[in-house]
Amino acid sequence: MTKVVKKKYRLKKKPLVILLICITLLTTTIISKDKEKNYKENSKVVTKKTSNKKMTNKEKKLNELENIDKKISYFNYSYLNRYLKYHKKNPNLKIEDVIIRVNIGIDNDYYTNTKKTPYLNKSYILINKYYYAGETYIPENLETIDKKYARDGMKLVSYAKDAFEKMASDAKKKDLNIIAMSSYRSYNYQVNLYNKYAKSDGKKAADTYSARPGFSEHQTGLATDIYNGKEDYTNFEKTKEFEWMQKNAHKYGFILRFPSDKTDLTGYVYESWHYRYVGTKIATYMKKNNLCFEEYYAKKIENQLEF
Ligand code: DAL
Ligand code: ZN
Repeated sequence: MTKVVKKKYRLKKKPLVILLICITLLTTTIISKDKEKNYKENSKVVTKKTSNKKMTNKEKKLNELENIDKKISYFNYSYLNRYLKYHKKNPNLKIEDVIIRVNIGIDNDYYTNTKKTPYLNKSYILINKYYYAGETYIPENLETIDKKYARDGMKLVSYAKDAFEKMASDAKKKDLNIIAMSSYRSYNYQVNLYNKYAKSDGKKAADTYSARPGFSEHQTGLATDIYNGKEDYTNFEKTKEFEWMQKNAHKYGFILRFPSDKTDLTGYVYESWHYRYVGTKIATYMKKNNLCFEEYYAKKIENQLEF
């Protein structure tokens, strides 16, 4: 009898011991996992604190700009504070766009912080609301365009004139008329033109479509307004000639200077009639990458990388 009782007792004790062992093991594991997690989190804070401490002011600023200086070639360290200011003002803009816009100069109001353009007499000269040619500038080698392709007396710099005539003559083979109607304009010519517009429409409106004297690309002798000899130039966009220019102008080194999708960058309303000679290499690159000249200049020319 006693034997039976003892056996029963032993049978009940064994599972209890196993259960206890299991509970102990589980608790130990949970506690050690928790400890490990806490340690990891704490060490993260420590690392962060230490690396923040080690970061210089400049590094912190570059960090705010996602260290984009390591990824793009046209980052200008002397503009660092301007980049940050513009980024804070425009938090939704991609950092790369912040850099391009500040390089172009549009963090400053138009016609403020203006500079004399550094590349006078070069095919990649930039003239806009920040870069001027100046009152006395007259380009070298101006020549009159063949009157088959231009209004009387229209002039361009010789290499741009040659390219223009070739382009107009190739278009003519397709029965299309590309005619230069306003090409080189002197400083004084622009004075009268701008004043006329400012008087009729007011300065604010005139500034959207007409350059102030000294700031017109027409003064470089590399730009020309064109029409097809029939339609008013303001309707150029609706003509077959425009369609042809869209496909072919870059092959002759010309670009549509004030495109409809870049008005905020060029500072001017869309002008389907205004073309600018930059050479075939730049024109082709710009077309392929859908860049306006301000963007190309900011990326490639300002830092003298390639042009
Ligand atoms: N219409 C262009 C912007 C000029 O006046 O030069
Ligand atoms: Zn023009």
